[in-house]
Amino acid sequence: MIQTNVSLKPYNTFGIDVKAKAFAVFNSIESLRSILSANSDLPIFILGGGSNILFTKDVEALVLKNELVGVELIKENDTDVLVKAGAGVIWHEFVLFAIENGWGGVENLSLIPGNVGASPMQNIGAYGVEIKDVFESLEALSLETLKIETIDNETCKFAYRESIFKHQAKGKYIITTVTFRLSKKPNFKTSYGAIQEEIEKMGAELSIRTISNAVIQIRQSKLPNPKVLGNAGSFFKNPVISKDLFSELIIKFPNMPNYPQVNGDIKLAAGWLIETAGWKGKRIGNVGMHEKQALVLVNYGSASGFELLEHSQRVIDSVMEQFGVELEREVNIC
Ligand code: EPU
Repeated sequence: MIQTNVSLKPYNTFGIDVKAKAFAVFNSIESLRSILSANSDLPIFILGGGSNILFTKDVEALVLKNELVGVELIKENDTDVLVKAGAGVIWHEFVLFAIENGWGGVENLSLIPGNVGASPMQNIGAYGVEIKDVFESLEALSLETLKIETIDNETCKFAYRESIFKHQAKGKYIITTVTFRLSKKPNFKTSYGAIQEEIEKMGAELSIRTISNAVIQIRQSKLPNPKVLGNAGSFFKNPVISKDLFSELIIKFPNMPNYPQVNGDIKLAAGWLIETAGWKGKRIGNVGMHEKQALVLVNYGSASGFELLEHSQRVIDSVMEQFGVELEREVNIC
């Protein structure tokens, strides 16, 4: 059941070849509990789709691969459905299942890599929608009590690419299912410029399927396929800066994309900062920022996790030097 010294290369989208001291797969709560009781002393490390992680060294832990699958409709009324999905379900397969059934809410999140169980960890988001908009609750096994707890939307403290699972609840739970509230009468979200344009180009009638197809089209045109080029999507978060710093920068860079926030701060596009600093499409050895989307750090071949991390630091330093803005990594570094 528990293997030792297992390469994690097939389990992370950067394709980094590090070893797990111990490794096991679970596909039921019972198998999870028996693996946990067979493990005497190693710390636990939960792996989902491996699409938001950069391994820089061997993992001195028991790595658990979540393969809890299944999607079930648990409640419905005239307008909404509550759908519970296993944490090991591939995210995009869940999106396609929702679209197939005519349930709206996740179509803008089409083709995001990773598993359902990872979606609340960083409140995944794209094209004007975040998971928090459709998240009802999740079930998770507490590593302290080995009991299943239900955690609701408010308790997750969702924010831009943030939740309690990256902070106070980090490493304390194994998410087993996630329940989403989807809509039978979808409210189409097409305000994100690129979607509108793509739908017009397609000349198709507006529906959740058309939106999904438009998102797939846009993502495929800009984001590298991890099966071809190792990457983990956006490597950095879009930074949020004060109005004062923004007022200085916009004078020097009048074309800088900016998104005012409700509290008066301004969100900037990290991709634009990195491109303007000269890093887009520039390759150093086996690493670089992608030629079509400067936010995506790419492994061109057999880069080590350390080389990728080092490159990300180069980019952080350069953006700091040129704009006085600190980029924060979005991807988890291990
Ligand atoms: N931009 C550039 N150069 C680039 C990339 C972007 O100038 O190389 C400019 C664009 O022209 C645009 C602005 O930056 O004015 C924003 O670009 P885009 O709409 O492509 O989105 P993003 O801010 O770069 C975010 C998410 C993506 C998500 C897209 C679409 C983050 C960190 N990233 O990217 O999420 O798909 O919006 O909603 O918030 C991910 O998290 O892995 C991810 C891909």
